[in-house]
Amino acid sequence: MPLHRITSIDVAVPDVAAASAFYAAFGLIDDGDGWFVTRDGGRQLRLVPAPRRGLRRLGLAAGSPDDLDRIARSLAALDIDVAHDRRSDECLVLTEPATGLPIELEVAAPVQAAGVLPSPVANRPGDAPRRGRPADGVRRTEPVRPSNLTHLVLGTPDFATTLGVLTDGLGLEISDQLPGVIAFTRAGEVHHTVAVQAAPGPQLHHVAYEVDDADEVGRGASALLMDDPGRHVWGMGRHAIGSNVFWYLRDPAGNFVEYTADVDRIDDGDYHPEPWQGHQFLYSWGPPPPAEFLEPSDWQD
Ligand SMILES: [Fe+2]
Repeated sequence: MPLHRITSIDVAVPDVAAASAFYAAFGLIDDGDGWFVTRDGGRQLRLVPAPRRGLRRLGLAAGSPDDLDRIARSLAALDIDVAHDRRSDECLVLTEPATGLPIELEVAAPVQAAGVLPSPVANRPGDAPRRGRPADGVRRTEPVRPSNLTHLVLGTPDFATTLGVLTDGLGLEISDQLPGVIAFTRAGEVHHTVAVQAAPGPQLHHVAYEVDDADEVGRGASALLMDDPGRHVWGMGRHAIGSNVFWYLRDPAGNFVEYTADVDRIDDGDYHPEPWQGHQFLYSWGPPPPAEFLEPSDWQD
């Protein structure tokens, strides 16, 4: 697969100062120039001022310059113009036609996880390896630090066109889908990198940041809700498609932001999707999704 992860994104917010405070509390490091840094992925989020919230740029990582050449040929076959970025021969830029989203492709290394927390040790009846001490999640006191920006969900008014650009043009693989409703495409081994969702117009549904385990999902969201319970959107639960544990929150601009952990990893050629129906795919357990998750309040604007 020529692409293997998200490099970075630009997210539009009307109030950069308010959004910056949120993402710092979320656990990203504020680089002071609009960029925010994840523990393992580096500078992955840039906040840009704009009257309306939304995704303004998507960056994806390629394995090599040859991969970029192959993608350029695939995009040309779809009549999509590509250009080399001024800064580097190893960077291609294109515009996804249905959403107008600028996409940048550049050669970049995989995420190398550093400082990963030890896996939790769990007690069960008859099997209690953690004798005489509390659970790891109870003992942690340091702020949650997301490892990387792992996926996003993009709403499009032309599902077939956007999905075709991602798959036929960029070479992403479909992991699971509800045809015509939502398709989970992956770049690399993680179950989904960019999910495409049918929507009234170009929309950012949510951006997900991967943390080390379910305790970090719970600790991160709880800390944000302690300061402002109005940030809660949906959680905690476990998705069915992708298996990831989730808790969704709202940034001050209204963008949904997800702490996520334990997402499925897939080897090419070794995945056999199950058929999914209705909202069954949404979650395996947890509270039912609120209406605003299924249709954000500004979806029709
Ligand atoms: Fe998600």
